[in-house]
Parts: sequence; C-alpha cells; structure tokens
Amino acid sequence: MTRRRYRTSRHMRGLCSDVRLHTQGFIQPLFVDQSLTSPRPAAGLTGVRIDTLESVLETVALDLAAGVEKFLIFPVPSKSSSDDFDFSFGSSIISGLRSAFGESVWLAADLCLCSYTLHGHCGILNEDGSRLMNAETVRVLADYASVLAHAGVDCIAPSDMTDGRVASIRRRLDAEGYDHVSIMSYAAKFASQFYGPFRDACHSAPAGAGLGDRRTYQISPLHGGDAVATALRDLSEGADILMVKPAALYTDIIAAIRRETRAPIAAYHVSGEYAALEGLVREGLADRAAAHLEVWTALQRSGAGIIISYAARHAKAWIENHIP
Ligand code: PBG
Repeated sequence: MTRRRYRTSRHMRGLCSDVRLHTQGFIQPLFVDQSLTSPRPAAGLTGVRIDTLESVLETVALDLAAGVEKFLIFPVPSKSSSDDFDFSFGSSIISGLRSAFGESVWLAADLCLCSYTLHGHCGILNEDGSRLMNAETVRVLADYASVLAHAGVDCIAPSDMTDGRVASIRRRLDAEGYDHVSIMSYAAKFASQFYGPFRDACHSAPAGAGLGDRRTYQISPLHGGDAVATALRDLSEGADILMVKPAALYTDIIAAIRRETRAPIAAYHVSGEYAALEGLVREGLADRAAAHLEVWTALQRSGAGIIISYAARHAKAWIENHIP
C-alpha cells in the first residue's frame, strides 16, 4: 500500500496534517534585571536580551507588533537575602507593563526565590544550609503571589517545586479577591542540565556549601512516574495549566500527562535546549525557522497546546511563511 500519496504536494501535506501551530498558544519569556542601567544580551541565548524596567516596554511593544501577546516575566532583583525578600521590583515590572499595554497583553510571572536568595536555591534553607524548608518557603511564595496579583498579573507560575504551594497560593489569591488570577504550575520540572543560560541570566545558580544542586526538590529524570503524579497533584490543588520542563527531551512525559487529563499543558523549551538548537543553526547545520517549528510540532503532537519558547516572538512570521 502506498503511503506517499499523503506527501505528494504541499496541499496534501497541509490538508492531512494532524498538527497545526497557531500563534495563540505561544508565550515569550522576558528577563528584567534591576541592577542593569541598559539592556544586555543574554549569554548563549541568541536574540534574547535582559531588559531594564524601562527597556522592557520597548521589547514588549516590538513583540506585540511581531504577533506575540503573552509573556512570562522573570524579575531579577538587585538585592539578595537569606530570608528577608523585597518583591517590589517584580511588582513594578507588572504594573509598568499593565499601565503601558492594558489588556492587550497577558502577563504571567515566574514565582520563585532563586533570584532572591544569596545561595541561589529556590526557597529558604535551614540553619546549616543542608535542607530546603517546605512550609517556610510556601508561606513566602504565597506573599509574593499576593504582591504580583495586586500589581495586576494575569497568571502566577510557581517554579520552586515545593509541596503544597499551588493550594496555598490559590487559597491566598481567592481570599484576597484575586480569584480571576490563574496558576500555571511548573508541575513536571526536572533537575536538568539544560537550565544553564537561564541561571546565568537570572544569577540563580545554586552557590556555596550545603545543599549543592536542586535534586532534593526538582524531579529526577529517572522517575517519570513522579512527574505525572506531581502534575496531577498540582491539578487537584488548583493549577489551571500544567507545565512540563524541559520540553523536547520529555515529550514522553507530556504524552503521559495528556493521557491522564485534558487540562492545558504548557511545554517549556528551556534555555539550554534553545541554545543547543541555535548552536546548530550558527554552525550552518540547520535552518533556524524550520528547526524551531519542528521542535514546536513535536511538543504539540505529544499533547502540549501551549509552547513557551525564547523564539515565540518569531512564531507568527515562521508559521506564516513555512511551507508544510
Ligand atoms: C527558577 C527557574 C529556572 C528556570 C525557570 N524558572 C531555573 C532552575 O530551576 O534552575 C529555567 C528556564 C530555562 O532554562 O529556560 N527556578
């Protein structure tokens, strides 16, 4: 039996595709650093810059014109601490963008302490720095969520991986009248080598003696079942969107979660995955647009309807000009 009839022309290929990418599903990450006086390029991330409170307005204006209207914000505060955190910079970014762009943008904010802590871990550590304390961390994260909601954020995206934070954030938001603010949980977030360029951009690499890496709170790549169960747990705690991260190496996890629920799944093609692909392009060994589109197609085919990519701002042009 011939299979090649499906491949004969762009009409047949287009007509019979079971994946159709659409700009609606894309989210652009944005870095905003309080200690910068002017924007600087993010090391390893082609075409991505780290903005100031002022320059991010320019970035978003250009992105809107290019066709992306949903953003995931990473505030990088200039001051770090071990237990006394100032969330006002994150709040200023959100309120600044909201007053400049109103409802034309959808703003999600990453919710984590790794850019705020001196040791770079995603929460508060015990006295000798050997353990990340769950309850204390969750309490502070709920405070942070409340500050961001007050500033006008549309979505809170907790990326710390402590237990119970989704329920606790949901409760806090609802109690304060922010029941319209959604939660996109970094549910299946693995302890990965592919966050390197991000940690450089956000000054969030774990440093110093004590706990070391993030393996006591992020999921082991050897334990796929933990990722699926954690995602379903977060869903039951009130998460509206479940995220899988990294994405391209974990399409089996996306598919496994999809088999369990119809809830929206976001796949985060993370900084190291992006940088690896861009390296191939720089060597002249792949076409940039086609390579990103192929990754995004794989993510959607696996079951993710939402794609977070550092190249989201190109999605519209690439999708329109790409011949399937
Ligand atoms: C913060 C956070 C990280 C990323 C998103 N939120 C880094 C980490 O967990 O170490 C990674 C994103 C990327 O690599 O693009 N906890």
